[in-house]
Amino acid sequence: MSEFRVGVIASHNGSNLRALHKASLAPDARFQIALVISNNSGSGALAYAREHEIPALHMSGRTHVDPDDLDDAMRIALLEHSVDLVVTAGYMKKIGPRTRKEYSSRIINIHPALLPRHGGQGMFGQAVHKAVLESGDQVSGPSVHLVTEEYDTGDVIAQTEVPVLADDTVESLGARVLAAEHTLLPLVVRQMAAGEHSE
Ligand code: GRF
Repeated sequence: MSEFRVGVIASHNGSNLRALHKASLAPDARFQIALVISNNSGSGALAYAREHEIPALHMSGRTHVDPDDLDDAMRIALLEHSVDLVVTAGYMKKIGPRTRKEYSSRIINIHPALLPRHGGQGMFGQAVHKAVLESGDQVSGPSVHLVTEEYDTGDVIAQTEVPVLADDTVESLGARVLAAEHTLLPLVVRQMAAGEHSE
């Protein structure tokens, strides 16, 4: 069976990349991590990829000053590595229009709240969990959604609910949501590799 090839784009730690990569090593996995791209040359994601001999590229406003050049370079790198699905996992930038067009409906993102709640510009990291706690919501959890031009607005593909506890802090809630991300994202990718969730 030809393997479904996943490109992961991440800015920082890369714990979702690690979860995806581990899942891809299972005997019944239907996908492999074909490429990792990061805009941050010092990211945990790039370090992990290099350690595990996954093709890894640093691409940013430093390597490509013109945003259109960066967009094109990313699109071409994904095509050259025969990537079928692009996963942004903690990528702090927008994917350019040329890459979005090339990979139309084949770019997904993971967000640490139940979209459409608590998404959009500026809603990343601890700000998300702070907003959830302040809203009084009793549940939170990750959403996997299609990437569109605007942050966190594409169709939601899957979500997992986790409870918000009375004594939660931003850190404790964030850790509970992140743990759920590490299960949800590999599950969705596996399903997409199997042809489910296709438009
Ligand atoms: C995750 O919480 C994800 O939902 C958000 O950024 C974080 C990335 O974490 N988009 P990691 O780099 O995968 O550890």
